[in-house]
Amino acid sequence: MPGLTIGDALPNLEVETTCGRFMLHDFVGQDWVIIFSHPGDFTPVCTTELAKVAAHTERFEDRGVKLLGLSCDDIQSHNNWIKDIESYSGGCKVKFPIIADPKREIIKELNMVDPDEKDATGNQVPSRALHVVAGDKKIKLSILYPATIGRNMDEILRAVDALQKTANHKVATPVNWMPGEPVVIHPSLSNDQAKEMFPHGYSTAELASGNDYLRFTNV
Ligand code: BEZ
Repeated sequence: MPGLTIGDALPNLEVETTCGRFMLHDFVGQDWVIIFSHPGDFTPVCTTELAKVAAHTERFEDRGVKLLGLSCDDIQSHNNWIKDIESYSGGCKVKFPIIADPKREIIKELNMVDPDEKDATGNQVPSRALHVVAGDKKIKLSILYPATIGRNMDEILRAVDALQKTANHKVATPVNWMPGEPVVIHPSLSNDQAKEMFPHGYSTAELASGNDYLRFTNV
């Protein structure tokens, strides 16, 4: 069976976290949530990643995004590791829950298993997987990095901005798009529909084909 991916519903699993036990759907509620996994506690790349997430917590909150980490070690280990994360981040607090998954059940359900990496006891560990879930409980974006490559939090914030923009308007975001820059009109819209939907207008790029599918607007 193919693993959990974009378009799929988030399984409503019960999880044990550093902030208590809850069902995933209750945690999501009507909000945006980022669920991100880490190969293990007290590992170097993970510590840098979580410190950066802690430092960016307000930027996620500003976008109405809740954070939910996951690492396979137990709650006691997570709570000890959080002290390292907070000291490395210069005192930024880890205010979000981190799931404990010592039996490696959650990572399988959430398609977060690294096929290659094993811990010291030979157990499978999570990859650096990340799912962005919306209030309808569906996965809107997933990324999958190997354990050896840390993720870029600025890119994750940018992707959230793009997801929220495209959820609210019939547009798509072009290469390297940043908030405030023009977006492209969804290719499924005819020019007549585009004129109606974007009454303030749009510009069409001149292309070698003479086709008019590359239409920029501001929303
Ligand atoms: C790390 O978080 O630093 C790490 C974990 C597993 C493999 C490689 C790096």
